[in-house]
Amino acid sequence: MDQSTRENLMIETRSISKVFQTEAGAVTLFSGLDLQVRPGESLAIVGRSGAGKSTLLSLLAGLDTATEGQVLIEGQEMELLGDEERARLRATKISFIFQSFHLLPELTALDNVRLPLEIRGAESPDKEAAHWLSQVGLEPRLHHYPAQLSGGEQQRVAIARAFATQPRLLFADEPTGNLDEETGARIIDQLFALNQQQDTTLILITHDPELAARCDRRLRLHNGALTEITS
Ligand SMILES: Nc1ncnc2c1ncn2[C@@H]1O[C@H](COP(=O)(O)OP(=O)(O)OP(=O)(O)O)[C@@H](O)[C@H]1O
Ligand SMILES: [Mg+2]
Repeated sequence: MDQSTRENLMIETRSISKVFQTEAGAVTLFSGLDLQVRPGESLAIVGRSGAGKSTLLSLLAGLDTATEGQVLIEGQEMELLGDEERARLRATKISFIFQSFHLLPELTALDNVRLPLEIRGAESPDKEAAHWLSQVGLEPRLHHYPAQLSGGEQQRVAIARAFATQPRLLFADEPTGNLDEETGARIIDQLFALNQQQDTTLILITHDPELAARCDRRLRLHNGALTEITS
């Protein structure tokens, strides 16, 4: 791949590995992973529980660092950025829907969604936050705190928060894992609407074959290696 193509990639990893030091010794989760994602692409990552999918997603989003190798976002090497620059990149371009939601417990649903909008200097963060929460069917729950919401409702607040800032790059860790079929289908449609209308690059972890099938590409993480699923 030539230099200009590389600069046009949304994400590139160069031989990344992740090793955890545990009391029982070093555990290598994966090594030598090379991945290239084009802007506007949708990519599903599948694999068994414990394969390292969530860990890989954190590395790709610059939330964690690889033991070896490099992660580049739009040609910028994450390791070379200072903490502040990395935080700015994340705040302006990236949204992340965590497997465990990571909502702020002391803020209502509305305030959880409003906060990143305020950080980005949105014109009317209140109105926009309410709009995105209604998009995921939560207008009756705007003023509830996370502890007063069901698991699926918390997941939808996390999804509204991720959508609200209209990111260039959206990472989602099993975004429909807690939703019934109908609600899940609606959320999936919204994910792909963002992908198509705003050219948002999607990188999703999912156990849902239908969601994986709608992505441009599917990769399996197994025994520390990533392989393309062609069927
Ligand atoms: N900080 C850590 N120290 C040691 N081991 C860790 C650490 N974080 C994760 N692991 C281990 O790495 C492995 C992969 O974890 P990860 O959360 O990435 O899996 P996953 O593929 O997302 O699984 P699931 O589908 O269950 O969410 C697990 O066996 C986990 O115990
Ligand atoms: Mg996981």
